[in-house]
Parts: sequence; structure tokens; C-alpha cells
Amino acid sequence: MTTLKEPEVNPGALRRHAIEERRPLDNAIDIQGCAIHYPYKGGSIHAVENVNFSCRSGEFISIVGPSGCGKSTLIKVVAGLLPRSAGEIRVYGKRVTGPHPNVGIVFQSPVLLAWRNVLRNIMLQVEMRKGYRKEEYVDKAMDLIRLAGLSGFEKRHPWELSGGMQQRVSFCRALIHDPELLLMDEPFGALDAMTRDEMNVWLQKIWMEKSKTILFVTHDISEAVFLSDRILVMTARPGTVREVIDIDLARPRRMEMKESVEFNRYVGHARRLLFSSVA
Ligand SMILES: Nc1ncnc2c1ncn2[C@@H]1O[C@H](COP(=O)(O)OP(=O)(O)O)[C@@H](O)[C@H]1O
Ligand SMILES: [Mg+2]
Repeated sequence: MTTLKEPEVNPGALRRHAIEERRPLDNAIDIQGCAIHYPYKGGSIHAVENVNFSCRSGEFISIVGPSGCGKSTLIKVVAGLLPRSAGEIRVYGKRVTGPHPNVGIVFQSPVLLAWRNVLRNIMLQVEMRKGYRKEEYVDKAMDLIRLAGLSGFEKRHPWELSGGMQQRVSFCRALIHDPELLLMDEPFGALDAMTRDEMNVWLQKIWMEKSKTILFVTHDISEAVFLSDRILVMTARPGTVREVIDIDLARPRRMEMKESVEFNRYVGHARRLLFSSVA
């Protein structure tokens, strides 16, 4: 795959992300008293219990927590793909009652259609949705392909791409209808460590350029610290918010920051919280 460079310092993007410029009332996600129970063998599994959390527009939030604590469940409920059992969820002020258009989703597996080329895989998102005129989105798709470092690959099929490239196609597909919120469930979990680092640098760059709100599930604490404004640490099932950690590290973050004392202090703190949740 193409080698991705560390991001250039972009003063405009830095300003956009300066904490003092954030609008505190402009909440992208509001989760109040949320519980999610799955019906199971005549009873129910309490996956998530009493989650309260809000995030501002443009924030990068990671969710970490022990396996099975309800991270994927929470993502699906915010996307409106699953009903909640109690509580309220609002996305950009609108109550979530079912799947809604203001969201893009990226899962661990890129789930690309083998018989469609890169461009047509990305276009699938607007072809499937009502009210989108396909012709109007081709240029947008080509812009995203360029942004994803995939120029020249638009006519290639998924099997001709590396894992990282496939995941970037899936990311473009999630962005083509220009949602304000991106939900990512362990998107880099299947990639090797080096590709993952490259994807982290790439994702930070795109997030800074596009000013999206991102809710990002990962089991990799170092990835969460590298990418996030805040990390939501969950308890073991039934999952609830254990602590929300503010990551006060300058942006754009660079890979060498992972060696700093400050970075590792955050990693250590999150790890201790997680460990005490399962011990
Ligand atoms: N469709 C389902 N039916 C019953 N239980 C489920 C279902 N999906 C998930 N669960 C249970 O809910 C809990 C949370 O699952 P999940 O959200 O996938 O956890 P995580 O993503 O944090 O690993 C787990 O204990 C899991 O077994
Ligand atoms: Mg999961």
C-alpha cells in the first residue's frame, strides 16, 4: 500500500479543534439513562445499563471496555440499528427512533462487494438510499478516493487491494452521503500493527480536515489515546461508564508521541481502569 506521511501541521485545523472554540451547547450525541437488554431464552441479557454521555460536535471519542461489555451494542443503538430498552438518545438534537441518514458506519470487516470496483462500492451507499441522485455523487466519491490515497485504484476490485486499502474504501463509503457523525467499531482490529499505525495517522488527518464527530470503538488503548479528545472507559457487562478521560495532547499527534511520558501516563491510567473493571 501507499506509504502515508505524518500529517503536516495545519493551523486552520488546529484552530478548529482548539478547545476554547468548541461550542459547548452544540451536542452531537446525547445519551441519557440508556439501557439495552437482549431477549434470551425467555429472559434477557443486560448488555448495557444506565449509560449517560454527551459529546460535542467535532469531538473524537473512543470507547474502550472489557470484551462483551456492550461497546458494539451501544454503537448499533446510536446508529438506530437496534432499539434501546430504556433512556433517550439524540443525535444532533434528533431523537433516535430507527436508522437515520446523519450517520456513517465502519465495521471491523470492510464488507465490500467482490464484484464491484472501488468506485462502485463507495457509490453503493447512495444507490441504496432513497432521495439521492447518483450522478451528483460521482465527483464526491472521486474526491474521497483521492483523500484516501486511492487515486488510480477506483476501477480495481477489493481482492486487488491490501487490508488497509479495503478499510479506507469502506471509510469512503461511510462518508459519501456526508454524515456529521461517524461510528467506527474496531475498524483497524484486523490490520497488522504497522498498517494500523498508518491508518491512525491517516484517520486523524481526515478527521481534522472534515471536522466530523467520531465515536470509535477499540480494544487498543494506545490507539485510543493517540486519536481521541476523550476516552469513554466502560465497566464489564452490564456495561456502563466507568470514567471519561480527557486526552490533553497537542494536535496533530505524531507517532513519536507514543514514546512520551505524558502519552504513557494516559495509557497507564486507562489500562488500570480497565484492569480493575475485570479483576
Ligand atoms: N443478539 C444478541 N443476543 C443476545 N445477546 C447478545 C446479542 N448481541 C450481543 N449480546 C451480548 O451482549 C453483550 C454485549 O455484546 P457486544 O456489544 O457485542 O460487546 P462488545 O462489543 O463490548 O464486545 C455480550 O455479553 C453479548 O454476549
Ligand atoms: Mg464489539
